[in-house]
Amino acid sequence: MSEKSPLGVILLAAGQGKRMRSTLPKVLHGVGGRPMLFHTLDQIRAVAPKAHVAIVVGHGRELVESQVRGCADFHGMRIDFVHQAEQKGTGHAARVAMDGAWGDARVKEKALVLVFPGDLPLLPKEIVEQMAAPLGRTQVLRLLTCELANPFGYGRIVRKGNRGAVLRIVEEKDANVREKAIREVGTSIYSFSANFLRFELQKLSNKNAQGEYYLTDLVAAASKKKKGVDVLTWQCAEDVRGVNDPWELAQAARFLNERILQRWAREGVKILDTVNTWIDSEVVLAEGVEIQPGVILRGKTQIGAGAIIKAGTIIEDSRVDAGATLGPYAHLRPGSVVGAGAKIGNFVELKKSVIGAKTSVAHLSYLGDAEVGANVNIGCGFITCNFDGRVINGSRKHKTTIEDDAFVGSDCQTIAPVKIGKGAYVASGSTITDDVEPGALAIARTRQTTKPGYASKLKG
Ligand code: UD1
Ligand code: CA
Repeated sequence: MSEKSPLGVILLAAGQGKRMRSTLPKVLHGVGGRPMLFHTLDQIRAVAPKAHVAIVVGHGRELVESQVRGCADFHGMRIDFVHQAEQKGTGHAARVAMDGAWGDARVKEKALVLVFPGDLPLLPKEIVEQMAAPLGRTQVLRLLTCELANPFGYGRIVRKGNRGAVLRIVEEKDANVREKAIREVGTSIYSFSANFLRFELQKLSNKNAQGEYYLTDLVAAASKKKKGVDVLTWQCAEDVRGVNDPWELAQAARFLNERILQRWAREGVKILDTVNTWIDSEVVLAEGVEIQPGVILRGKTQIGAGAIIKAGTIIEDSRVDAGATLGPYAHLRPGSVVGAGAKIGNFVELKKSVIGAKTSVAHLSYLGDAEVGANVNIGCGFITCNFDGRVINGSRKHKTTIEDDAFVGSDCQTIAPVKIGKGAYVASGSTITDDVEPGALAIARTRQTTKPGYASKLKG
């Protein structure tokens, strides 16, 4: 096969993932805030953005297809979906891709066809790079193996003698006691010459413990050819751990999280607690950010230089600009923006709200659908009453606008939709139902009555 051989990639994503005990297709379970299948696609895109990709779908295929198609990151890729109506095993899954028009095209162009399972969320791009290297002249298959301390559940690599040529792979359920002791396992990652793959898949049998067509059986077929198999042994077991049940999902999430924390720490982010900090894979942090224990950063959150995120703060799909301070125990729900140098204090919740630069919302407040300008002071215990059961212009949630330099005293609420003008002053304890003009003072509370000596009457 020449240097220039075109590349095809088959992603196996049709299985139900019975061991997950979930109605969500396995490959859509999230790791680091992204479906596990997406992590694999990310790495393929990084290495071979023009490869022809066939995603074999079956269980929950509408959902898998719509999620992949809906993700803008993959719009530039050549992705076909191949339907495996009945899940008869990994070999059968590869076969539905190779027997159809997609496979015809790969055979015709003498492509190198890589195969990845959809349940390897920690796959590094170096593996894709190495698997995409051209095969040797006599080779029909490259196999990625790994030594595991506990190989239970994986296909074992049977070699000639102890360290000789690879002969075949035996699945856990078909293995005898001696084979089960083998710690070198198959990772379900392969590179095939398209022609070999197409024709050998057609010869597979399902006479095994699970009554399935095993892709692993192609290893035995390739090993019969002289110098047919190229073996790549991967040192880092975590990279190729499959996710089959919720425990493995939790493990994968922990590994990925640690990698993400390490990456940001090396880029100048100060992470105080590497165990109880969770950062999703798409979060972007600037230099000098400080992250205190118990912080969770979700989705496409972005944090600007020098911002301090104090203990227990949760931020989802939001932006925090340079030098802002959040928490402890602040909660930014999706669509929030906190301006440069602003302060969001403890027990403050923001939802779809924009907070201007140097504004302070220091204690115990809820702001939903609010637009707050710069240099605003919002006292303790402020609430935007953004939902009153009415629908105005198709929206059930109403907007609160607070312009620059306004001062809102403690324990106020705004009944949205409403606007507080630039530099206005709202007295403590006010319930604002009407717009406040710029520069005006608004007091909306009943006057106090004090009755001298009256207390003793009440105390009886
Ligand atoms: C598979 C390998 C095993 C290997 C392990 C590595 C086989 C027979 N076994 O086992 O040797 O050590 O991966 O993680 O290949 N799928 C389909 N259609 C099907 C069946 C599966 O698309 O009919 C997909 C699944 O969605 C999944 C992938 O193939 O993404 C692997 O299937 P899974 O059931 O997880 O295989 P393992 O038991 O892990
Ligand atoms: Ca698996």
